[in-house]
Amino acid sequence: MDDITEKVREIQKKFKIIGRSEELKKIILARIVGKNILIEGEVGVGKTTLAQAISNYFDSDFNRIDCSEDTLTHNLVGHWDPPLVISNGYIEDSYVYGPLASAMSNGGCLFINEINRMPESTQNALLTALDERILDIPKLKTIHATDNFFVVATLNPSAHVGVSVLGEAIKDRFIWIKIDYQKPEEEIEIIKQEVKLNGDLDDKIARISQEIVQITRNNPSLRRGSSIRGSIDLAALISQYDTNNSTKNWIEAAIMALYNKIELEDGVSKSKKEIITEIVLSVLNSSDF
Ligand SMILES: Nc1ncnc2c1ncn2[C@@H]1O[C@H](COP(=O)(O)OP(=O)(O)OP(=O)(O)O)[C@@H](O)[C@H]1O
Ligand SMILES: [Mg+2]
Repeated sequence: MDDITEKVREIQKKFKIIGRSEELKKIILARIVGKNILIEGEVGVGKTTLAQAISNYFDSDFNRIDCSEDTLTHNLVGHWDPPLVISNGYIEDSYVYGPLASAMSNGGCLFINEINRMPESTQNALLTALDERILDIPKLKTIHATDNFFVVATLNPSAHVGVSVLGEAIKDRFIWIKIDYQKPEEEIEIIKQEVKLNGDLDDKIARISQEIVQITRNNPSLRRGSSIRGSIDLAALISQYDTNNSTKNWIEAAIMALYNKIELEDGVSKSKKEIITEIVLSVLNSSDF
């Protein structure tokens, strides 16, 4: 077994990651050659899980920022604490390090979750740091990043709300890794792990929940299907019913689990409830339910 394959196995084991060997291999390669990594994928495909695992595996110093339209430069870089500045002046102790300044000075990982939500002005502060590997903190000092400074970012391509376009300049500075939905068998394993299912009947719950969700992704009436979170929620709900071989219960649980996780295509006259019901019935009828 070569070194990279061994690292992949170690990461899978340590962080309970199911599958994703190819993706992990690519991420490890990028990390070994010191490149910043941008992980792109739809909602719920496992971007945060992979990014977190890789940075925890390689870097003792882990600095995280979850982006929104309100993520300003000072949230990323750091800021002066006004009362401390008044009493002590512009000294090191009066400065509150943000995740970027910490990662650069301690030589750790900066994990930027949903970088596509970061406003452009904030992206620019990052750009200089990535480019020149220096960060100027006026009145204090210039931080020169240590060799281990490293960025892992996640990008959700079809998020609609609060998204700024990720600048070409930023994209140019990352190695790009795209992740897609996993194979059904792997998704079933993830569902079982998340809901802690065991035994024969539970295997069936996981299979049916996965299949229902998979169909939402290819249904022409839906613009957006559900991620694995829909199957996890559905499996968790249905396993709490007194009986889980009732069609009525499956429909009820599926509506609860999936209603907010799917979006109708324009001009579709059926309701979400009708579409979910049809999908549940088709899956239950075709399985040995
Ligand atoms: N390969 C995997 N092995 C084990 N669990 C996984 C795997 N992929 C995803 N999961 C689980 O699925 C759920 C969704 O994953 P995660 O939060 O990483 O997705 P995401 O792509 O970051 O989602 P979002 O786009 O909403 O930020 C989590 O509960 C996570 O633990
Ligand atoms: Mg995420």
